[in-house]
Amino acid sequence: MQPTQIHDVVATEFGQVNDYIISQLSSDIPLIEQIGYYIISNGGKRLRPLLVLLAARASAELDEKKLDQAIQMATIIEFIHTSTLLHDDVVDESDMRRGKKTANEEWGNAPSVLVGDFLYSRAFQIMVDVGSMQCMSILAKTTNIIAEGEVQQLINCGDPDTTEESYLKVIQYKTAKLFEGAALCGAVVANASPLHQKALQDYGMYVGTAFQLIDDVMDYTSTAEEMGKSVGDDLAEGKPTLPLIYTMKHGTEGAVKRVRTAIETGGLEQLDTIIDDVQRCGAIQYTEQKAQQQADLAIAAIEPLPDSDYKAALIALAHASVKRRN
Ligand code: IPE
Ligand code: IPE
Ligand code: MG
Ligand code: MG
Repeated sequence: MQPTQIHDVVATEFGQVNDYIISQLSSDIPLIEQIGYYIISNGGKRLRPLLVLLAARASAELDEKKLDQAIQMATIIEFIHTSTLLHDDVVDESDMRRGKKTANEEWGNAPSVLVGDFLYSRAFQIMVDVGSMQCMSILAKTTNIIAEGEVQQLINCGDPDTTEESYLKVIQYKTAKLFEGAALCGAVVANASPLHQKALQDYGMYVGTAFQLIDDVMDYTSTAEEMGKSVGDDLAEGKPTLPLIYTMKHGTEGAVKRVRTAIETGGLEQLDTIIDDVQRCGAIQYTEQKAQQQADLAIAAIEPLPDSDYKAALIALAHASVKRRN
């Protein structure tokens, strides 16, 4: 299956998710609607809602009630994701997201954090409406772990001795956990067997890890136009991602020195030279290989699911998370 066909198998439901997302942005405080609408209608790939729908469909035939729950669950996951982005862009002092100014750049930090809180709690309101205690339990844990991942990352920023192990834990917590929760909740609302729930949960974790590994590659290989985000955000904060960790192990003496200093002090003075250092020492290939391994594990994890177009789309999605350009 081609990457462009992944959406096609759930095109109708995907449209319903988009409508439901917009309807759930309503508030009688105009600034909330303004900022919420700005960030949400700005696009975004809606990958996690897609994952909810595919996981639910790949698990079982859905009656009307289960389909509605899957649509609600997809919305919940996108709201949680978007709220973490609003908060993340404040923390990372980012000025561009989804090809436009970030909300913090446009309105300032305080409104961004507060509207992030609104989306977070709206997600929990919808969850109560869905009424699955299992999903509530999964997502309560998920959101808690995302916060832990972001805090651990904050601690690692500026520390050039951050290990690959610590980095991997951070990306599993801050990013892969939500993919895991999305796939698992999709399976839960479809009433999948425990075996299939576990298969989809593992799939989500591996794909999410691959996805963030590639995100961290793009900071050293892509353009703002392609990513819809500014280049060098990670380096500006002294964020020790895998491309840098690898360069500090395998780069030239000069490269090691430059990267260590850049992580310790942050800033973009050496951005061009460091991009060159990272690209020359094989750090990009290494990180991409790691991502491919994760994608392969994801595909292996869903082996127990019966063959269907939805399973084929999940396999294509795992490949696309490594090949992606934005
Ligand atoms: C951005 O996620 C945050 C990361 C985990 C890297 P996406 O790349 O899925 O963001 P949108 O929703 O498409 O903008
Ligand atoms: C995103 O991490 C993870 C969360 C929002 C929890 P990043 O900071 O690496 O993602 P971008 O590059 O801002 O999208
Ligand atoms: Mg960020
Ligand atoms: Mg961040």
